[in-house]
Amino acid sequence: MLDDIAKTGAQFDRHLAAARNTRELDEVRVRFFSRKSGVIPALFARLKEVPKEQKKDAGDALNKLRDRIENALAQKTERIAAEEASRKETRETLDVTLPAHLPPLGHLHPITIVRRELEDMFLEMGYSLDPGPEVETDWYNFEALNFTPDHPARDMQDTFFLDVDQLLLRTHTSNVQIRSMERWKPPLRVLSCGRVYRHDEITMRKSPVFHQAEGFLVDRGIHIGHLRATLEQFIKRLFGADLGMRMRPSYFPFTEPSAEVDMSCVFCRGKGCGTCSYTGWMEILGSGMIHPQVLRNVGIDPDEWSGFAFGFGLDRAAMIKFDIPNIRTLFENDLRVLQQF
Ligand code: PHE
Repeated sequence: MLDDIAKTGAQFDRHLAAARNTRELDEVRVRFFSRKSGVIPALFARLKEVPKEQKKDAGDALNKLRDRIENALAQKTERIAAEEASRKETRETLDVTLPAHLPPLGHLHPITIVRRELEDMFLEMGYSLDPGPEVETDWYNFEALNFTPDHPARDMQDTFFLDVDQLLLRTHTSNVQIRSMERWKPPLRVLSCGRVYRHDEITMRKSPVFHQAEGFLVDRGIHIGHLRATLEQFIKRLFGADLGMRMRPSYFPFTEPSAEVDMSCVFCRGKGCGTCSYTGWMEILGSGMIHPQVLRNVGIDPDEWSGFAFGFGLDRAAMIKFDIPNIRTLFENDLRVLQQF
């Protein structure tokens, strides 16, 4: 019997050493302690058959072995369980203080910056945004705007004509005046920003494709004072409150009277420098009171309604605002340039 007890001890040691995780340790526990088939309970059952004089020694040895096995199992189980828990923790721990991998962010194009500033300002003033089409018919780009077929003003704008359906690329955003006035009844206030096309050579300041913002308003009793106040407001907000503004008589077929608008040169603040040819002024937009014939063309009674309109070059505005000397810079999309905005 003592022999079997010693063998069981050795057998346990081998099994314990072989168990690598809590599940395997559990198997060892069952093997040795299971009430029905465990090795230790079986040995205790055999104590009954041991002769009286040996019973005490065998009982002592068996108790000792049971205690040792219990202890050893408990110790190893505790150690392995702790290891497993810490491994699990490392796997699941997220250090929220680590610096994040930030995706590289894009930048807004200078023209987009100016356009959005303008749109925000005019939305505040109760205007609606209406983009209008870039591919246009002669009616919307010229005819309805009071350019007669032989009108000398038509020569001012060299147009790209398309091969299909007598369509053309709009030469200005003024086409939106006609489209919006057809669609909505006055009173109306609209701002329209978009691309326009002219058959021009590429130079430092000219490109065959560029961007305009068209603003117009039709209501009762609108006069040139409303136009002037509106222009002054947005020019000062866009370029600086200290800048002056002046209107010079001009000509557009769709406005009467018409005015070319200058603002103080932003580089010398009106003192005179090379950029403004020492005049202190920069030409910034074209404007005027909407011609009564244009209103009639879209079925609006000019005796009841009047309005103003202006057209503003977004490329030029971006070049002035961000001191970009060459218009090409706006179209080349060199990331080294764009990342500065
Ligand atoms: N459409 C004109 C241009 O492109 C600008 C303009 C718009 C003038 C509205 C007066 C009123 O030059």
